[in-house]
Amino acid sequence: MFRRSLTLTGLSAALIAQPALAQQGPPGGTPYSSVPSVPIQRCANLGNTFEQPAGMPWGGVMPMKADLADIKAQGFDTVRFPIRWSAYAKDKAPYTIDLAFFAKVDQVVGWATDAGLNIIVDLHHFEEIYAKPAAHRAELVALWGQIAEHYKDQPPSVLFEVLNEPNDKLDNATLEPMLVDVLATIRRTNPTRKVIMGGQFWSGISSLASFDPPKDPNVIATFHFYEPFAFTHQGASWVKDPPPAPRVFGLPGDEEWMETMQKEVLAFEERTGVPLFLGEFGAIDSANLAERARYTDTVRRTAEGLGVPWCVWSYDNTFHIHRDGQWIPVMLKALGLPPESTAPTTAPTTGASAP
Ligand code: GLC
Repeated sequence: MFRRSLTLTGLSAALIAQPALAQQGPPGGTPYSSVPSVPIQRCANLGNTFEQPAGMPWGGVMPMKADLADIKAQGFDTVRFPIRWSAYAKDKAPYTIDLAFFAKVDQVVGWATDAGLNIIVDLHHFEEIYAKPAAHRAELVALWGQIAEHYKDQPPSVLFEVLNEPNDKLDNATLEPMLVDVLATIRRTNPTRKVIMGGQFWSGISSLASFDPPKDPNVIATFHFYEPFAFTHQGASWVKDPPPAPRVFGLPGDEEWMETMQKEVLAFEERTGVPLFLGEFGAIDSANLAERARYTDTVRRTAEGLGVPWCVWSYDNTFHIHRDGQWIPVMLKALGLPPESTAPTTAPTTGASAP
């Protein structure tokens, strides 16, 4: 349904609204439905809240009930919730997850659901498996056995994401059989839940060329897009030899990355028939705010032009779109929020004088 021609006529073509696709969109919504089986349009990552090593804050603001309601009110329909599950499980079989930790996750899942948001329960930062895939395969399956059982009665608005940013030794060839195992385990308790999964090399755009997710009508493939990295991660403290700041967006070659996204997304969908979700994109706070906004707007429009739903990194951490209790207006604008269909409208002028 979402297959499109591989003929590329440049970025501008991708940004032109596609009327045939737009007609399939939700009433009053933006043209997203080229990927109808993905229930997501606009998503925010709750980054650096439940994904850091246990007991080590990384600066992300812990999401509270009011945050989730506010995220929904701005026009987002989904949050992605990165969780370092492996840090809250026993390190020996059956790798039992701490129930007190489950309760904390449940609270956020409940708040999101009450707010009318989809929530992606994401297994993030399982560092051990990237370095030694075979040694940790059983643990990944066991973690998902428990998570899937725990959330099996949740509504379809709760989605699962198997493993954030496979990298190092976990290349597509090693990863794919593992994903088959994990999915089979999830399917025992959740026969039709949407399950998201990404490929090698931090699920970067290049991963799509050879990524083959398991065959299942409710699998969504994901990729992350931080290109050009020298712009999005300028001065990033967690990157070895971080690219220098300040660095603007728009140097020679920068825009070509958008064409790369376009080309790889279309090729992947054509080859596999699996819908795609852009699970992370954004630019770090050490970039100039106006440049960050311009970059965010460009990537967001490129994804939307391809019919790919997106998830910005991140709500309230080092890639802020919200800070000190307030939204950053230029970042919201760059994300096209609030969407026109929900934006407050000015009262129509009827010519009649007010009483
Ligand atoms: C990945 C990492 C996260 C980091 C983000 C931006 O999601 O897991 O920790 O903040 O990318 O670099």
